[in-house]
Amino acid sequence: MTRPRVLVARAVFPEVVARLREHFDVEDNPSDIIYTPAELIARLQGKQGALTTGSERIGADLLAACPELRVVANMAVGYNNFDIAACNAAGVLATNTPDVLTETTADFGFALMMATARRMAESERFLRRGEWTRWAYDMFTGSDVHGAALGILGMGRIGQAIARRGALGFGMQVSYHNRSRLPAETEAELGARYVSKAELLAQADHLLLVLPYSADSHHAIGAAELAQMKPTATLTNIARGGIVDDAALAAALRAGRIAAAGLDVFEGEPAVHPDLLTLPNVVLTPHIASASLATRRAMAKLAADNLIAALTGGVAPTPINAAALLRPS
Ligand code: DGY
Repeated sequence: MTRPRVLVARAVFPEVVARLREHFDVEDNPSDIIYTPAELIARLQGKQGALTTGSERIGADLLAACPELRVVANMAVGYNNFDIAACNAAGVLATNTPDVLTETTADFGFALMMATARRMAESERFLRRGEWTRWAYDMFTGSDVHGAALGILGMGRIGQAIARRGALGFGMQVSYHNRSRLPAETEAELGARYVSKAELLAQADHLLLVLPYSADSHHAIGAAELAQMKPTATLTNIARGGIVDDAALAAALRAGRIAAAGLDVFEGEPAVHPDLLTLPNVVLTPHIASASLATRRAMAKLAADNLIAALTGGVAPTPINAAALLRPS
């Protein structure tokens, strides 16, 4: 019997590639080249599976051009790089890596919010420039996190983990807005109150974005929303670029319409809107919210588990489109 063939589209932990080789003929990418759409299609010819990351777009054109492809396993919880309707139509199973990154990502969201509120990046740059000559009563005064109003837009697993940190660890007043309201007992356990988006924007001292990206959430935070926030508020985005209108955010930060922002994701990343780079009151990190070593290993392992199960007659542990029928092998 011929072994299934899989593409590991980006560089990943060698032990994960070695494990995949126990089951499959594997083409990997140790040089970590980001394939163009045409290169990706070319490399997927004759492959039944792909281990992907957010940089590989799996859409209808690719699926039509890769008729043997049966499983795409994303090493990410977010899957806006997958056209799920097209995967369903093509009978291709799509999987992601939820749960294993929840706490790590929540840690980072909280850390980025704190760094933003307490002006850590700006003050560190000042110190490194050699400009620190004396203590001053008003030097880099920021805003408190403890006891403040925490607003969370998007209340999935990561939003809930952030709510716990805020309510239980920092005595914050937690409000959230989400497409669907949580059960009352979950709200009570989290100490979180459901509010409208307008109330969330108006009330939050620190607003955290943790919602998935889709056509519906494109520019969920733009000039109109920023205008509804407190001038003292901070905004932290660990969700996806495109949820915030980065040009509008830069203008709001420059004009002092909000106090500061912490951004781990960007529209068109790895490019960053040039105006954001010139502003002191924004903390910028390169899409690393899930990047603890242990968590990245767990994500890669889960993506491999999904591929192995799906292509060897098992049940993929974390399917996105469980209802989809697999293409016949
Ligand atoms: C995710 O898991 O969606 C992260 O953004 C990928 O790094």
